[in-house]
Amino acid sequence: MVTEINQLPEVEPVESIDQSMTGSTTNANAKAIKPECIIEVKDLRKVYKVGTERVVALNQINLSIFKGEICCILGTSGSGKSTLLNMMAGLEKPTKGSIEIKGHAIEKMTEKQLAVFRQKYIGFIFQSYNLLTALTALENVAMPLIFRGISKSAREKIAKKYLKMVGLGERIKHKPSQMSGGQQQRVGIARAFVGAPDIIFADEPTGNLDTKTSIEVMHIMWKMAREKNQTIVIVTHDPEVALYADKVIHIRDGDIQSIEVRSLDDVYEKYIKPYEENYVQI
Ligand SMILES: Nc1ncnc2c1ncn2[C@@H]1O[C@H](COP(=O)(O)OP(=O)(O)OP(=O)(O)O)[C@@H](O)[C@H]1O
Ligand SMILES: [Mg+2]
Repeated sequence: MVTEINQLPEVEPVESIDQSMTGSTTNANAKAIKPECIIEVKDLRKVYKVGTERVVALNQINLSIFKGEICCILGTSGSGKSTLLNMMAGLEKPTKGSIEIKGHAIEKMTEKQLAVFRQKYIGFIFQSYNLLTALTALENVAMPLIFRGISKSAREKIAKKYLKMVGLGERIKHKPSQMSGGQQQRVGIARAFVGAPDIIFADEPTGNLDTKTSIEVMHIMWKMAREKNQTIVIVTHDPEVALYADKVIHIRDGDIQSIEVRSLDDVYEKYIKPYEENYVQI
């Protein structure tokens, strides 16, 4: 049953956000005992009209994403990946079909309801980082906490911890122009995770990065999501990025071609553990 927006639970208090930020990796490959469907897409269709032309961006998409999954939507340019992600995030309305997130019908919400919903449950990571250029790394990361009524000193304390978690404890006063692309994306990751959202949507998060930095960024996102059993949905055209996912949704010309599922334990053993063993920060 679909829950009304005014029945949404209250935002997590700052103490509980703070307490769980131990940086510990002990439960890094822990699995959810009972999978909870967190995103459900049914018969989703999106048709754009350009003049007299009709572009079918998504034909008829059905999929389920479970709590704690690292999910990749993989496909070539123009296959409909961003359209699908944007609709799951409520940034665009579908032509037909439905999207439920945590039991809430996204496509039926007003813009105001969507804004509240995103603040509570969703974090975003962008290809071009989308940091505010006039603000420092610390101020950028602390930004989402403003809307939660958290005091300035508490916001800065939490933001600092997240910047440390992404390896930027020494860069908190740097502005985006004073950081490399990889560092800016790490600030973007800290900003997406700072409010402990249930879901993180990332559209080509490694699209502007070299191979080595892409691996580093995927590793950080993976570890942070696993800490609190958060769900990540990553859009990518890069099969190397998809290696980190336990669910890979292959999309082509607006249709799902296939869905690959593997265990997060396998992903950990194959790609995360060897990286940790060999990792030397430069
Ligand atoms: N606002 C729009 N108006 C008209 N057509 C659109 C619009 N947005 C996307 N499309 C079309 O929908 C199709 C899917 O686009 P989408 O941006 O979802 O692809 P993508 O898989 O994200 O590609 P890329 O990897 O290049 O980002 C494309 O054919 C595109 O031209
Ligand atoms: Mg795209």
